[in-house]
Amino acid sequence: MYRKTHQTIQEWYQQSGRLDLPWRNTDEAYYIYLSEVMLQQTQVKTVLERYYIPFIERFPSLKSLGEAPLDDVLKMWEGLGYYNRAKNLHKTATLVDELPSDIEELIKLPGIGKNTAHAVAAFAFHQPVPIMEANVKRILCRLHQLIKPTEKRLWEIAYDLVDKVNPFDYNQAMMDIGATICLPRNPKCEICPLSDICKGKEEPERYPEKKKRMV
Ligand code: ADE
Repeated sequence: MYRKTHQTIQEWYQQSGRLDLPWRNTDEAYYIYLSEVMLQQTQVKTVLERYYIPFIERFPSLKSLGEAPLDDVLKMWEGLGYYNRAKNLHKTATLVDELPSDIEELIKLPGIGKNTAHAVAAFAFHQPVPIMEANVKRILCRLHQLIKPTEKRLWEIAYDLVDKVNPFDYNQAMMDIGATICLPRNPKCEICPLSDICKGKEEPERYPEKKKRMV
């Protein structure tokens, strides 16, 4: 299933993906986990320019993070916001010597929900599982013309579509396609590697439902 699509996505990723992001060029599970926690609520640009490398330099291992006082960790997080993320990172570092590769085990750790567990499993442990975030959700909705799907339905579709041969590049590519092609407005369907299987490409902006802004 989807052999041709997976090939097209892999080629697109090699040509147009953000291949040089530092968390895509490491095998260290802790560095990947840290990036995913930072990226939960913060843009790539901010994480990249100001936080990711200094944090790793200050706390180069999960062990060093766990041994540090919480105040030092919060200090390195200053300006990133959502400080529970830093508290949970620190807590996790005190609880385990190494991150587990199993999604069920990852979810048991503080601050690791379903999405982050899947990202860590796919990126740190190369497991054949899909990831889920806002950009990916938009892609999945358009592929299947879904206006307001349940989380359960989205995960079913994501599991069906994931490239089990190279889940790492596939999942990174999906995020890049969402960030650069399958845009909320004026998506670039004519150059999208998923257009062959996309049911929503005639009227992409119909999917998913736009959130009403509070006034
Ligand atoms: N957002 C969440 N995870 C990401 C990743 N691995 N690369 C780019 N943006 C992300």
